[in-house]
Amino acid sequence: MYTAAFTRHLIDWQKQSGRHDLPWQNTRDAYRVWLSEIMLQQTQVTTVIPYYQRFLARFPDVAALAAAPVDDVLAHWAGLGYYARARNLHRCAQAIVTVHDGKFPNSPALLAELPGIGRSTAAAIAAFAYGTRAAILDGNVKRVLCRQFAIEGFPGSTPVERRLWELAESLLPEHEIEAYTQGLMDLGATCCTRSKPNCAACPVAADCLARSQQRQQELPWPKPRPVQPERSAFFLLIDDGQRLLLERRPPSGLWGGLLVPPEGDPASVLAALGLRAEECRNLPAFRHVFTHFKLTLTPVWCRVIPPASVAEAGRSWVAHSELVTAGVPTPFRKLFAGLYQAKG
Ligand code: ADE
Repeated sequence: MYTAAFTRHLIDWQKQSGRHDLPWQNTRDAYRVWLSEIMLQQTQVTTVIPYYQRFLARFPDVAALAAAPVDDVLAHWAGLGYYARARNLHRCAQAIVTVHDGKFPNSPALLAELPGIGRSTAAAIAAFAYGTRAAILDGNVKRVLCRQFAIEGFPGSTPVERRLWELAESLLPEHEIEAYTQGLMDLGATCCTRSKPNCAACPVAADCLARSQQRQQELPWPKPRPVQPERSAFFLLIDDGQRLLLERRPPSGLWGGLLVPPEGDPASVLAALGLRAEECRNLPAFRHVFTHFKLTLTPVWCRVIPPASVAEAGRSWVAHSELVTAGVPTPFRKLFAGLYQAKG
């Protein structure tokens, strides 16, 4: 049987340099293995260790956990986060007792039917507790495989994930599944890290395509950002020859609390303010990118006859010379600087 170099190197490395003394290692107790895998799903090893030990002291086996009130389980989980994990843990313990006679199944497929156990976690439990030959594919493993084999595309997308599962299955060793599985986890956690992989210490660096192509930073591809919506708006530069009329924005929301020119259809805005413009001109539009959308702003310069008073309800007339220092948002500050400062 052919064993990929990747698999052989990883097993050898795990035995020599991997982690061997984590509290959930060196046991075949499926309850302990399962508990550790659930706790480690979204939480770092160093955070998990004290929780794991306190949890086991209070709930030493699956029967004790199944019989406990859920509030007691949640109390022992408090601080680990993602509390759905604790509720599922409790439901899973009850299913093990009632459906599986108190014993965790050794088949990954049956394990994956239980609450809180996905395909990868099922494989890890089966491998560590029973030596079952099954592939894991969590976030760390996806990163390792995407780099080793230069796999492009977002690893969370269906086609890339399918490919990664096939690859993960094809790399499984005939023997020593525990060392191999732990080796994959150790490599992702300690060596093939997201931002600064330590390729010098990596047992599979020689065949790593990302490394030979210098693409460690590019791979794996990040989740594609959703296309940002585009908005456009007119902003009226209502100018009485000396000053601009600005409005204070409500405290929350876009430009909260800042002074900006009135926004809206020019004729309607002027009518609502009881102003008549002698002249109105569209100035060049420009784009501003916000966190969640892009805004095309069209400034409309409107020359008005000095009004009796519209400076109320959060509006104020601001002298041209003070526009740049007034509390206005950056895109307007730049616009005002160009329009009013150049002239002195
Ligand atoms: N992350 C998930 N499972 C793990 C394990 N068994 N050891 C270390 N880190 C892990």
